[in-house]
Amino acid sequence: MTDLLMRPPETRTDEPLVRVRNLTVRYSDDQPLVLDGVDLDLFRGETVALLGSSGSGKSTLMKALTGFAAIESGSVDAGDFDVANLQRGQLRRLRSQTGQVFQQFNLVGRLSVLTNVLTGSLYGAGAANLLGTFRSSDRVRALELLDRVGIAHKAGEPARSLSGGQQQRVAIARALMQNPRVILADEPVASLDPRMSRTVLELLRQIAREDNIPVLVSLHVVPLALAHSDRIVGLRHGEIVVSGRTSELDADQLAPVYDLGDEEED
Ligand SMILES: Nc1ncnc2c1ncn2[C@@H]1O[C@H](COP(=O)(O)OP(=O)(O)OP(=O)(O)O)[C@@H](O)[C@H]1O
Ligand SMILES: [Mg+2]
Repeated sequence: MTDLLMRPPETRTDEPLVRVRNLTVRYSDDQPLVLDGVDLDLFRGETVALLGSSGSGKSTLMKALTGFAAIESGSVDAGDFDVANLQRGQLRRLRSQTGQVFQQFNLVGRLSVLTNVLTGSLYGAGAANLLGTFRSSDRVRALELLDRVGIAHKAGEPARSLSGGQQQRVAIARALMQNPRVILADEPVASLDPRMSRTVLELLRQIAREDNIPVLVSLHVVPLALAHSDRIVGLRHGEIVVSGRTSELDADQLAPVYDLGDEEED
């Protein structure tokens, strides 16, 4: 155990929007735990970087927050939702309130940028709102969001014609279209060059602050986490080995996350 782990992770007095306690996840009975006793708080307005080598459980932790991973024990409280014991019908609502951003953007390449953003409104609307029948108020809002992420001029272009950084901004606008309570970004810059990585991470951080929502962003690159987050949580073999305010951490203190003497297999 490092000193860092023993320190209280937060001194905030407000309630976290997401509270994870002693979470364990296992994909099958004959496999080891993938998450082992994870505690995590996500507060409003805060960007939390989730660091960990390949296989450490970053994506699984994000999945556990949206009911995509089977929770073996522990709790995940996300506002109204007790994610470990979701009632029928709640899963859809939970996911509609959670904005997700992925490494590969997950846009529909042949559809316009605007339509891709509009699909974010489908989460809350139900099946009645089919593609092509978006309300004009949604169109206005989608354009506003594209403007916010700096690519309104691309609204009519097919998504596949955009650069990676531009596509990721479309994906962020799509997530914002859901009016998310929280944004989960799973390695959102792993496919981007360094300059674009910084731009996208700053955009996410700005959204966290301006919309007063938590953003959880998994990253592989320590300097990016140090430069673009308020707090860092480091996972190793499914356990949190470092947790602290970014301003109080440096690369040496994050070394336990990537213990080179005990590399994960890829
Ligand atoms: N659907 C699944 N079924 C079985 N095992 C899985 C499944 N998804 C992930 N795992 C295992 O769980 C562990 C954690 O995987 P996870 O994808 O959460 O890691 P990660 O930190 O996101 O890695 P990466 O940096 O490569 O994305 C790995 O050992 C992986 O093989
Ligand atoms: Mg992953």
